Amino acid sequence: MNEPIRRIAISTGGGDAPGLNAVIFAATLAAHARGWEVVGVRDGFNGLLSPERYPDGGLIDLSREKVRGILGDGGTILGTTNRGNPTRFPVRQPDGSYLEVDRTTELLGRFAVTEIDALISIGGDGSLGIANHLHEHGLRVIGVPKTIDNDLDQTDVTFGFDTAVSFATECIDRLFSTASSHGRVLVVEVMGRYAGWIALSAGMASGVHAILIPEIPYDIDVVADLVREREARGAKFSIVVVAEGAAPAGGERSVIGKSIGQAERLGGIGARVATELEERTGKEARTVVLGHLLRGGSPTAFDRLLGLRLGAAAVRALEEGQHGMMVALDPPHVKYVPLAEATHRMRCVPLDSDILLAARDLGITFGESP
Ligand code: F6P
Repeated sequence: MNEPIRRIAISTGGGDAPGLNAVIFAATLAAHARGWEVVGVRDGFNGLLSPERYPDGGLIDLSREKVRGILGDGGTILGTTNRGNPTRFPVRQPDGSYLEVDRTTELLGRFAVTEIDALISIGGDGSLGIANHLHEHGLRVIGVPKTIDNDLDQTDVTFGFDTAVSFATECIDRLFSTASSHGRVLVVEVMGRYAGWIALSAGMASGVHAILIPEIPYDIDVVADLVREREARGAKFSIVVVAEGAAPAGGERSVIGKSIGQAERLGGIGARVATELEERTGKEARTVVLGHLLRGGSPTAFDRLLGLRLGAAAVRALEEGQHGMMVALDPPHVKYVPLAEATHRMRCVPLDSDILLAARDLGITFGESP
């Protein structure tokens, strides 16, 4: 495992997040500065697992020219997938059903044949778990944490989150004027999976009246009371932000479905909350689902900078002989933490966190029963 590095691969897996291209940009330049070649694997690991599907053989030569100008672009120039877990790869059967197959050995063989000495794997908990699995099977791997949800343990913040929160805040700001003109209740559903970071941060930054997050099961009657109290005080409108993973006390999360090889898909809670508020208050309630808009667009300067720092740090980590580690932000430093530790638990909003306490001090309700 300690032979000199001549060629590295970069792969992006799971949902895209603004800032991925900044990581690719920085890692590529930092690797070239050390005389290493860099290739990008298309669509997670699909470029290596199914090279015949790609005219370029599934690997992109990441030259300086190839990464020029990508730093501020959203998405990932490598492509990504959340159906490409090599340990449970979905293979379609003649009868139309899918069988999950472990393709780890085949993938490791492809890394060897293509003379890739080490991998920088950029992803969320799923992709970093796969990265750790490959490390345990002998591949030199450094992980880079990514997700708009900000739910990864061991790093202060993930890139993509700031862009998502900034855009959500702008959208919610715009809803204030229309909600107040019509005297309506507006319910805004945002992504975040099982963590409420986006809802809490954007909701606070835009000054909404109620925020429903997965960490705090809500009672819809408490939210309805708030709408009525505001009405009684002359505020004819209310804005509620609800995280896609929020659920009523004693009730279930809203799940759209689950397809083979993918995580549970969340959605629909906004419409449910709006309907229930309309029934209880008699006020017209509308829903806006921000969904994938939060994953798109150009990364903020904060996310670009974080991506650049982590991309460069991943290359330094490889040069120092580290593997099986994730680069993580521990302000003001970037540190290395074992991938196994980074992926074993999700980071939710702590109930005693300053941000949550501040929201309560501002009078924002989380819909908790008294
Ligand atoms: O993890 C990022 C995320 O955007 C979540 O907030 C969301 O639940 C999920 O991905 C949606 O994934 P997909 O694009 O596969 O529906």
